[in-house]
Amino acid sequence: MKCSKDTYILGIESSCDETAASVVKNGREILSNVVLSQIDIHRLYGGVVPEIASRNHVEAVDKVVKMALDEAGVALTDIDAVAVTYGAGLVGALLVGVSYAKGLCQASGLPLIAVNHIEGHICANYLTFPNLQPPFTCLLTSGGHTAIVNVLDYDKYDVICSTVDDAVGEAFDKVARVLGLPYPGGPQIDKLAKQGQAVYKFHSVVTSNGNFSYSGLKTAVINLVHNAQQKGEELNKADIAASFTVAAIDGLLMRLKDVVKTNGYDTVAVAGGVGANSYLRERLTELQEQGKQVCLPKLSLCGDNAAMIASRGYYMYLKNQFATLNLNANPTLKLRGEKPK
Ligand code: KG4
Ligand code: ZN
Repeated sequence: MKCSKDTYILGIESSCDETAASVVKNGREILSNVVLSQIDIHRLYGGVVPEIASRNHVEAVDKVVKMALDEAGVALTDIDAVAVTYGAGLVGALLVGVSYAKGLCQASGLPLIAVNHIEGHICANYLTFPNLQPPFTCLLTSGGHTAIVNVLDYDKYDVICSTVDDAVGEAFDKVARVLGLPYPGGPQIDKLAKQGQAVYKFHSVVTSNGNFSYSGLKTAVINLVHNAQQKGEELNKADIAASFTVAAIDGLLMRLKDVVKTNGYDTVAVAGGVGANSYLRERLTELQEQGKQVCLPKLSLCGDNAAMIASRGYYMYLKNQFATLNLNANPTLKLRGEKPK
């Protein structure tokens, strides 16, 4: 039974290959979190096919929203607002969630909230750590973003450094592909790396001005594999996975430690799909040894989900930050303060 002072937000997420809906109470408590993944479909093509993603979102979105309401044990009349991801992501995929949310708000009279997907990833930490509050330093590591950000308030960010080309997750996926591993590559590399040794040394992913660059690392791995293939040499894939992982993650950790020491906070959080990486999670304990509080979102909240969107929506609801029914998708939406690549 909903108490009158509680706020229930229905979150909807369809930016890539997951159709998700969730009901979150007061921004912190997950009442339901339904994620319908299309991974099995896209795996056949070695990556996300945008057109197929959009069609599958269209087929799934209504069902997923109904499941989220049912699992939460609430009716639409218990919901206070609908929060939907409007960027960044695949435009056709985003439009499915945005159009559905607009229709739902038009029909029900509920307010609409437009959520930035990356801000949503940061909020996965509020769902895992109910007492966490800004300010804190956050390592953003997803398929589309790589940055270190000081989260000054629920909607105020100071982007300290970011990638100048590929995102770390993108590099994991591309390296996995060249090693012949199935999509999505990140979890596959994670598994394989545990069986190998980091025998190959790659250049640092940290640039001279303290940003990140992943395209050089990706090319170095591709060249290593292609050169071996041309010479008919057999390479140990597990060693390549381990070497790539160390290079990809150590640079992030090095910069994170610098930032925390110079202009960061005592609490350090992680956000985005690569936050599920076991080597990254293990190495982050080094910050704990230095007296920092390290927040690692639950594995189920690292990847795309709608609970994080509903959580972000709650903090926008508190500030009356509502969207109109003219809302459009924005495939290249940045985090406020983030410089364009
Ligand atoms: O945050 P996310 O779910 O979607 C975006 O907003 O981009 O991140 C997806 C990325 C993919 O590149 C995927 O390969 C990577 O996160 N990923 C991982 C792991 N699990 C997912 N990368 C490394 N290790 C993992 N365990
Ligand atoms: Zn994401």
